[in-house]
Amino acid sequence: MKIQIINGPNLNLLGKREPEVYGDQSFEEYLEGLKKIYSNIELSYFQSNIEGEIIDKIHEVGFEYDGIILNAGAYTHTSIAIGDAIKSVTSPVIEVHISNVYAREEFRHHSYISSSCKGIISGFGIYSYSLAIKALQEIGQNRKLPL
Ligand code: DQA
Repeated sequence: MKIQIINGPNLNLLGKREPEVYGDQSFEEYLEGLKKIYSNIELSYFQSNIEGEIIDKIHEVGFEYDGIILNAGAYTHTSIAIGDAIKSVTSPVIEVHISNVYAREEFRHHSYISSSCKGIISGFGIYSYSLAIKALQEIGQNRKLPL
């Protein structure tokens, strides 16, 4: 099973950025742990602060991988183009957020990508990503169910 994790803008600063909201662990450190736990899954990681690069990565893997876990950061709330990219590919995309976006400012309550995603996981801290892996595993094992 192949899963691509994509992190958008400012998520390269996890561990340093607003630790009271996003925690004190870097994504690289967390990813090491994920790779050990899910050693049977091919987990690829890509981070970019640039909208077009995120779209290019979705196009690159989105017809081949078993799933994409996407934290589009603030582009979630602004990017029609990322929403269109998700609609264009065949791999299921799970939208994730570290924080509970619905418990925060109003402008974070709207997402341009949710309607194109298989589902949304928000508010479980950095563990939102492991929950998304579990969801993709379930989808992979139950392809015939109307998930
Ligand atoms: C975020 C929530 C977004 O509103 C914010 O712009 C981020 C991170 C999260 O993971 O909680 O950059 O996607």
